[in-house]
Amino acid sequence: MARETWGTRIGFILAAVGSAIGLGNIWRFPFQVSQEGGAAFMVMYLAFVLLIGFPAMLAEFVVGRKTELNAVGGIREFAGGMWSYLGGLFVFIGFVILSYYSVIGGWVLRYVVGSFTGGYVGTTAEGAPVAQQYFGQISTGMDTLLFHAIFMAIVIGVVAVGVKQGIELAVKVMVPAIFLIFGILAVYAFTLGGAGQAYAYYLSPDLGYILANWKSLVPAAAGQGFFTLSLGMGVMITYASYLDSDENLALDGVSIVALNTGISIITGLIVFPILFTAGIDPATSGPGALFVSIASALGDLPFGRGVGFLFFLTVFIAALSSAISLIEVVVSYAIDEFQIDRIKATSVAGIAIFLLGAPVTTDLVFVDLYDIFAAQILLVLGGVLLMISITWVNADQAVEELQKGIGDLGALGTLWIWMVRIPVVVVLLISLYLGITGYIEFLQGPFAEYLASL
Ligand code: PFF
Repeated sequence: MARETWGTRIGFILAAVGSAIGLGNIWRFPFQVSQEGGAAFMVMYLAFVLLIGFPAMLAEFVVGRKTELNAVGGIREFAGGMWSYLGGLFVFIGFVILSYYSVIGGWVLRYVVGSFTGGYVGTTAEGAPVAQQYFGQISTGMDTLLFHAIFMAIVIGVVAVGVKQGIELAVKVMVPAIFLIFGILAVYAFTLGGAGQAYAYYLSPDLGYILANWKSLVPAAAGQGFFTLSLGMGVMITYASYLDSDENLALDGVSIVALNTGISIITGLIVFPILFTAGIDPATSGPGALFVSIASALGDLPFGRGVGFLFFLTVFIAALSSAISLIEVVVSYAIDEFQIDRIKATSVAGIAIFLLGAPVTTDLVFVDLYDIFAAQILLVLGGVLLMISITWVNADQAVEELQKGIGDLGALGTLWIWMVRIPVVVVLLISLYLGITGYIEFLQGPFAEYLASL
């Protein structure tokens, strides 16, 4: 049977962009910037995206298009041998990420609803904005569990029915909507009193800080780089498997990285001026940074609740299109390997993922427990194994495949292979090591304190 291909070049880019743009850009990015000291993180993050993320993305594309298979089968065919087990890791990573991603998706849905009830705008009896208090109320508890369930139910529903057209359409609306709505909010943020201070914090890096903190900056930037570009678990293998061979993969990669990075940067241009103006120290704002800043600004804006509704609805669509790519890794594996039917595979996987995420609704410490493990350990591990298996085992085929649709790359092809073979792999191994030691510190510190407090 002929394998389906994307109807248009733009179809593939849209789907890949739909996977890349999500909570990673809008929720996780400002949260990471604020935990890692502002502009210092920006420098590391941008370096990672360009020097590590982009070549790594090309490697995933090549495997997908060459084998025309999903992530699990693709790497088995391309690299073979013990690399065949990598697929199991991808499926596991998909499970873990989606389990807490859905909880955050549930927060977003709650804010969509809150735009009608008005719960997150206004001030308390003492005159402070209710934004922070509201986030505290909605981020844990039984209702949070309910919204996590609703988010997963929507993901299951969309994937069970089969999605290609749906995603393409959603992304075509979503990307322009993000630039429009976020652009307006960034202009508003620019007019605020705290803007100057925020831009200095966000955009002017301090070399001394980088040198003093590289041990946490490096794994954080690696984790964010992989998370935001949907790398390290084969999503981009699966998507590229539907491509025709006259497609210029490098050009597609550049477009995806540029769009995705643009959205993260613009999100920061909204969040930080608002936090500084409200007198909230970003370092203490944690995983609520996005929600608290947006909600406190909306009270000020004309048609605040309407803008809020559009904003959170857009974020919800972004989250949904990424969540779909995560569950697809699991579902396409179950369908291909065990011939389980699509609806059954999606429902069983979806329920298991819901249960795995349930503890995250009880306390914010679980967000870190899952998130650091997933981004700084699992994705980086998956990424390094993928890069080794692609560029060390089967480099000739990789270059040959990349050249289709581009033309003879000459020395550039060799440069790409050697860049991934050594610098990318070494940097990822260092990041992985630092990520693991940092995680152990988290387990012995904040997480142990949480357990002791029970
Ligand atoms: N890239 C998505 C985001 O930034 O929200 C999250 C994600 C999707 C990570 C798919 C990994 C993945 F395989």
